[in-house]
Amino acid sequence: MSGDPSRAPRRLLFGGDWNPEQWPREVWDDDVRLMREAGVTTATLGVFSWSVLEPEEGRYDFRLLDDALDLLHRNGLDAFLATPTASPPPWFTLAHPDALPVSADGTRLTHGSRDTYCLAAPAYREASLRIATALGERYGDHPAVLGWHVHNEYGTQCWCDHAAAAFRTWLRARYDTLDALNSAWGTAFWSQRYGEWEQVLPPRATQYLHNPAHLLDFKRWTSDELLACFTEQRDALRASGSTAPVTTNFMLPTWNHLEQWSWSREQDLVSLDHYLDTTGPDGEAHAAYGADLARSWAGGRPWLLMEQSAGGITTWGAGGASTTAHKEPSRMLRNSLSYLARGSQGSLFFQWRASTAGAETWHSALVPHAGPDSEGFRTACELGATLRAVAEMAEPPVDGPVVEADVALLWHAEGWWALESGGLPSERLDYSDAVRRTHRELYHLGMAVDVVEPGADLGRYRLVAVPSLAGMDDATVTALHRYVKEQGGHLVVFPFTGVADQNLRVVAGGYPGRLRDLLGVRVEQMRPLVPGEEVRLDDGSTGASWSELVHTEQAGATRRYLGGGLSGLPATTVREYEGGGQAHYVSTELAPADLRRLLAGLVRGAGARRVVGDLPEGVEAIRRRGARGSFLVLLNHGPGTVTCAGPGLDMLSGQPLEQPARLHPGGYLVIKEDAGSSHSDAWQVTATDTAPGG
Ligand code: GAL
Repeated sequence: MSGDPSRAPRRLLFGGDWNPEQWPREVWDDDVRLMREAGVTTATLGVFSWSVLEPEEGRYDFRLLDDALDLLHRNGLDAFLATPTASPPPWFTLAHPDALPVSADGTRLTHGSRDTYCLAAPAYREASLRIATALGERYGDHPAVLGWHVHNEYGTQCWCDHAAAAFRTWLRARYDTLDALNSAWGTAFWSQRYGEWEQVLPPRATQYLHNPAHLLDFKRWTSDELLACFTEQRDALRASGSTAPVTTNFMLPTWNHLEQWSWSREQDLVSLDHYLDTTGPDGEAHAAYGADLARSWAGGRPWLLMEQSAGGITTWGAGGASTTAHKEPSRMLRNSLSYLARGSQGSLFFQWRASTAGAETWHSALVPHAGPDSEGFRTACELGATLRAVAEMAEPPVDGPVVEADVALLWHAEGWWALESGGLPSERLDYSDAVRRTHRELYHLGMAVDVVEPGADLGRYRLVAVPSLAGMDDATVTALHRYVKEQGGHLVVFPFTGVADQNLRVVAGGYPGRLRDLLGVRVEQMRPLVPGEEVRLDDGSTGASWSELVHTEQAGATRRYLGGGLSGLPATTVREYEGGGQAHYVSTELAPADLRRLLAGLVRGAGARRVVGDLPEGVEAIRRRGARGSFLVLLNHGPGTVTCAGPGLDMLSGQPLEQPARLHPGGYLVIKEDAGSSHSDAWQVTATDTAPGG
């Protein structure tokens, strides 16, 4: 069985996590009244309700959900009903101490927070499956159940003996023989050769650096084992006869324990929790990044923003998530529209009503501690009205992706895991940063961007960028060759890409061994830079963090290093192919403005189209395709007023856009485009000179 995207909702959802078990019954009525007032459609229910639903092992008590689902239904609301398996109750710990997770240093964790279970422990898997089955049987045909929300943000790791046994089983299936494993992992180094399968353990705390291939396989196993946790619950829910879509919420920016491509294929609907991690203007680029990832994981189909924060910017630190800054109303609205324009079927939040106790008491909510007489709730009402006005956007296109992009970034969780393995040539190599940096500049250039799976057919893109994907398998290399040589594609490769095979074994003879021929370069030496150190290029660009001693073989230099030990040597290169294909290489980490300039040249050279011609700084334009036409969303994140002119219907006013519309700072427009006008030249967005306050 796999995911069935035809089950995904075909309307826009608005709402969030509702935790009625935290409140007296009379508050529930108030909740539902306020939900209706705000235009909420959907509550996510039961995410952390296990101890209420199963107060003792095997004794279920469904009064909470019976009552809550009926109340929602009577009020015309529906639910994403969760399986509560992210937080086993305290009785579980005492009954099954072996099912508690053990960290790499051998510490067995205990209850008192959430996510305290071993993903491979039979007792945990059985208890999870039992409660998921019971929920499916009881609510599979409940009219309020719009979808199933399995678990919450899978990602828990464990290094215990259950994990060890399951890891070995997985390794045997992957390698078949110990010789193959020894060879793949390079265990000749530091006397690590395994003579019996039982000698292979999870990468537990050890004296010094781990074997990177061992670490990488442990991550792969964790992702696959967690996926089995998900699919067995999904299958139990489906066995109840329910046809509601089954999803589980991915988490970004920091929680990267899953290989999202394989996971997405198993879900009926891809969903994402996305928390801005910056207070500055980069937050908007970050929202676009999360949305582009989710839509791409969903194969270009609509997906769902399952959580964002209502009124706070969250920072993840050693002490967990904390709200460090206020998210102003217009930002919450613009972010919601940005996700929506990039394919989300709505905007859901964590959480509906702010808790007054517990670990996340201070997290923002649609109904804050102050109650409905608050900026937060008024903003929720405004979003509800906005989503109602643009409801038609939810109808997915009959064919093709919901957003059309000419530019793509290669993205894979393994690239991230590889750069977490330690012992690298520079501590400053950071996969997520490298991808995000490239995405950010493409975003600022006004491009629609997809991310693509290594090995996928790239033929429909004009330009493909590959940031720091260190290990590459044959399928990935073949797809890149085909793209450039047969499909005439333009490729740009950034440092520390294709330097090794899929087990992180370096391909010797010059970097990047896996792509040397395609790029026509041979990198003799990596020369990482220390903080504060920079290199200059002959076009005025600067680079930091990284530089390389590059020899052009079949390629030509497009920029050279200027000054320093690499002076006069190639810094960026291109190998051109008959048929128009181009393979570019960039050997340093360019400063943001310089990277933008480089990408602008590549975008132009590749003939990739912007969403709207030229945009004033800070204005975002994105086009979403629908069943009967396209929708252009214009968001003004910048400090100045802009004027937007083009053919279409302003969906918020319901009026045709006959006169150019003025978009004040923080403002937004959603246009239903006239037939035939969904191209970049149909629109003019220009900065307006206005007197202050004008
Ligand atoms: C999410 C999680 C929620 C809540 C939220 C705020 O990652 O799914 O349950 O914890 O973060 O921290």
